[in-house]
Order: sequence, then structure tokens, then C-alpha cells
Amino acid sequence: MSGPRPAPRIARVHHLKSVPFCAVEAAGARPSALHSLTACADLPAGYRYIIIGDTGVGKSCLLLQFTDKRFQQVHDLTIGVEFGARMITIDNKQIKLQIWDTAGQESFRSITRSYYRGAAGALLVYDITRRETFNHLTSWLDDARQHSNSNMTIMLIGNKTDLEHRRAVSFEEGQQFANEHGLIFLETSAKTAANVEEAFINTARRIYEKIQQGVFDVSNESFGIKVGMAAQQTGSVNVSIQGQQRSSSGCC
Ligand code: GTP
Ligand code: MG
Repeated sequence: MSGPRPAPRIARVHHLKSVPFCAVEAAGARPSALHSLTACADLPAGYRYIIIGDTGVGKSCLLLQFTDKRFQQVHDLTIGVEFGARMITIDNKQIKLQIWDTAGQESFRSITRSYYRGAAGALLVYDITRRETFNHLTSWLDDARQHSNSNMTIMLIGNKTDLEHRRAVSFEEGQQFANEHGLIFLETSAKTAANVEEAFINTARRIYEKIQQGVFDVSNESFGIKVGMAAQQTGSVNVSIQGQQRSSSGCC
């Protein structure tokens, strides 16, 4: 018989609290987008991400590597949606990434669709050793474009670069797809951690630049961006692991 089973890491995720984004608004003033942006520039911020792509491409492993710095060999199929969070720093500013890791199986597609709206960034993942996962990118992208806000930043990720000997999709093909569709592109390995930090942080950097350019009205929650004290609140039940947070939910 096998040893004692590890405690389940399932926790129900409650809806994010709807509270004012910015201290300026909390004080009663309703600033213009630009005013809000300027006033909030030095406050902590939070960006919401969604991770999408076929089953088995390594979405959950990328999240686990980013939040917990570890790799899971066994395919622990995601049921519904899981959640992870981590603080990062850009330009000396604290940004909390709140990341929804979705199930790649076709039967969960409708649940996934309900998470696009309210996401500032998406990581669209394929497996460089399985061409069919690359062929399905257009379908994922169609879904993302249709259900997200138009300014969502999308990072295309070719995962499993440690399996170079089994490569079925070249780096150039990935880069070309990204160029054609206006995506940022990186190849990663959730196993060796190669480029994993970069994938999450470069996406945040792009969102950060868009905010500075005034692309978003940061007082509008549907863009998946929070600025101010609200950015520090998730309203979710989190399991704290080494100072970082990770929880999951089988529900929508
Ligand atoms: P769903 O939850 O079903 O959508 O799958 P997923 O995309 O979350 O895949 P998951 O992260 O569970 O990984 C699937 C399998 O691929 C697991 O056996 C992982 O160990 C393996 N895997 C993930 N990333 C890598 C990687 O970078 N390199 C290698 N060699 N294996 C990986
Ligand atoms: Mg998964």
C-alpha cells in the first residue's frame, strides 16, 4: 500500500472583492483615467492573468514553478480552474499577480471562457513536442479574443524545451505565429525553470507599459487591473506555501 496521502490543496475560490481600485477614489473623488493613473502610480497594483492551452502542455507546472519553484512530474489534471498568486517588482513597484490556471480539456472550455473577462494578461501555452497543441492555437486565440477585453496582453509560450530531442515545433514557427497575431513569444521549460520567470514578468511589464501609456482606465475593474490597497486583497481562500499563495477550485 502507498504511504499517507498528502493533504488536498483544494480550496474554494470566492469572487474577488469589488472595492475601489485607488485610494483617490476611496477618498471620494472620481478621477479621470489619466488623473487616476498619475495618482496611483506609486501604489501597489494587482494584475489578473489566465493560463490557457491544450491539456497536458504544462500550464499547471508553469504556475507551480513560478509560485513555488518546484516541478511536478505527474500530470495532475486540472478540474475547472485553479488559482495562484505571487508578488513581483517592476520599476521598484510591487505588483501582485493573480493567476487563473484553467483546464485544457475540451469539456471545461465553457468554464474557461467565463474567466477571460477581467484578465489583463493571458499565457497561451503549447507543447513543443506535440504539434497538435500548436495547431490548436488558433482556436484558443479565437476564444481569447472573443471573450476578453480588447487590450488583454497575450504571451505565447512554447513549453518543454528540456525535451529538445523530441521537438516537433521549431522556435521559428512559434515566433512567426506570435508575429502574425501580435503576441509576445517565449519558449520555456517548467521542468528546468528556463524562462518561466520571464514569461510571467515580461507579460506584467507589457501591461505596466500599457497602463503608463493610458491604454487602460485603471478604475475599470473589467480590465483585470487593480491599483491601490484593493490590489492586496484577493477575497479568496489561499494556502500559503513558502510565503507565496496557491489555492484551487473545481468550481467556476
Ligand atoms: P491540464 O490541467 O489537463 O490542462 O494540463 P496542464 O497543461 O496543466 O499540464 P500539467 O502542467 O499538468 O503537465 C502535464 C504533464 O507535462 C505533466 O506530466 C508534467 O510533468 C509535464 N510537463 C509540464 N511541463 C513540462 C516541461 O517543461 N518539461 C517536461 N519534460 N515535462 C513537463
Ligand atoms: Mg493543469
